[in-house]
Amino acid sequence: MKSLQTVDLNGKRVLVRCDLDVLDDNGEIKEFFRLSSCVRTINYILENGGFAYICGHIGKTQQPNEKYSTKKLSEFFSQNLKNTNYEILKNLRFDEREEKNDESFAKELAAGKDLYVNESFATSHRDHASITTITKFLPSYLGFHFEEEIENLKYVLDNNHKPLVVIIGGAKIESKKPTIDKFINIADYILVGGKLAFEESLKNNPKIILATDFVETYDIGEESIKKFGEIIFQSKTIFWAGPMGKIDEEKYINGSVQIAELISKSGAYSVVGGGDTLAFLEKYNLTHKFSFISVGGSALLEYLSSGTLIGLEAIRKVNG
Ligand code: 3PG
Repeated sequence: MKSLQTVDLNGKRVLVRCDLDVLDDNGEIKEFFRLSSCVRTINYILENGGFAYICGHIGKTQQPNEKYSTKKLSEFFSQNLKNTNYEILKNLRFDEREEKNDESFAKELAAGKDLYVNESFATSHRDHASITTITKFLPSYLGFHFEEEIENLKYVLDNNHKPLVVIIGGAKIESKKPTIDKFINIADYILVGGKLAFEESLKNNPKIILATDFVETYDIGEESIKKFGEIIFQSKTIFWAGPMGKIDEEKYINGSVQIAELISKSGAYSVVGGGDTLAFLEKYNLTHKFSFISVGGSALLEYLSSGTLIGLEAIRKVNG
């Protein structure tokens, strides 16, 4: 696939689809890490003489409102971008045609632009106007962070540095099962914490190590942390998605914090992701402990189980 680096950006108007879905229920920015992931690509466009039209969604389709306005992100961009040759478009999901993947909306977004860059890994599992149909109307490229996501996830999936240890947590078996199924043939061990550790369907598989002791059933206990730690220390590659406990309550964060520390100390190449995991790592200032952090939630799990994303395929189709 041709990189954005092969394009002469001087004087070009570039539509950059970013992961802007970073506001909490009060309309405050809760995920700077995710927001920061688009900065390198946008600054590259600006420094090479281009003009960036930054776009993305916040929340689901809704009537235009102040709480989920992209204006909330203006300060972040003015502090982090190299010059002022950019405009932040309004929340794409203020128009129902975005989620409906309406061609007329994609055409409107493309009007007056020369190029499209997808820097929205976390939304690229969606068949939405600004992710897929837009590529019919503009020459299309991947953003630099998106490229890194693919490189890192490919490394985990096709990894040459074994043992590979996968750590899975969280509450919903439906969302994690395809990932577990995928890794069962690839990983040396799958360590399971969170609510998933109680799943009957995960019992009696020699590769799957379930947490065995708990703090009031809401966090993994010391015995499990010790057992997981021994395996983590043997590994060369680690993938972690999903918290070990009910991390919205301070008294149940210990398991997840300890696992983060153990991964960091192991010296293994570590890739971490998942919406809740990312928010947790950011809140407790733990993001620096890993080799790579994916910004994806559902998109990450889908990429891992299927090996691609609809948004990535849309670019591949036209980019050559
Ligand atoms: C996410 O938060 O995972 C992405 O922004 C995708 O959002 P969606 O699930 O509302 O499409």
